Amino acid sequence: MRNVTLTDVFTHPIAQKYLGRSGIAHAVSVAHHAFRLALEYEVNPDLATKAALLHDVGHYEWYTNGQWDYEKYRENDIHAIKGAERAHKLLIRLGEDPASAKEMALAVLLHTDSYLPEGHLDKNNLQKVVRLADEADEEPGGNHHYRKMDYDLALRKIQALDQKVADVLKKDQGYKKSS
Ligand SMILES: [Fe+2]
Repeated sequence: MRNVTLTDVFTHPIAQKYLGRSGIAHAVSVAHHAFRLALEYEVNPDLATKAALLHDVGHYEWYTNGQWDYEKYRENDIHAIKGAERAHKLLIRLGEDPASAKEMALAVLLHTDSYLPEGHLDKNNLQKVVRLADEADEEPGGNHHYRKMDYDLALRKIQALDQKVADVLKKDQGYKKSS
């Protein structure tokens, strides 16, 4: 049983506000990659796709004199931390199971290590899936954030993905709530 669908998440005004910053096309595409990878890694596709859809909601716009400032971003970015908190708040508000919301927030938190101190971290499969899904959609120079996709097409893709997730969960009741 799913408490919250991708469509619920995607159409929420908070998701729309923040997904627009890092690119709806990127978010939709990473969610699709996460579905494929979730089956491969035997991770619950419901959690993987929602965490993937929300993985970049923490982006802040780093501008200097009206120009995007990559250096400033690279040095100061904490989008994974902010994103984990925003994703968690939104999921809980939508009625997500708290244990699942925590799992997804952690996957958002760890989808990049660009802001983390040096060191090795043992990631679980859900966290790996979200990270690999993000990397699968990456383009040089951060161009994946600027690809355009209009809202209607994005919504249709998200609804189609919801259907695929529901089909998998119907077939296989064995997915644990968490990863
Ligand atoms: Fe990303």
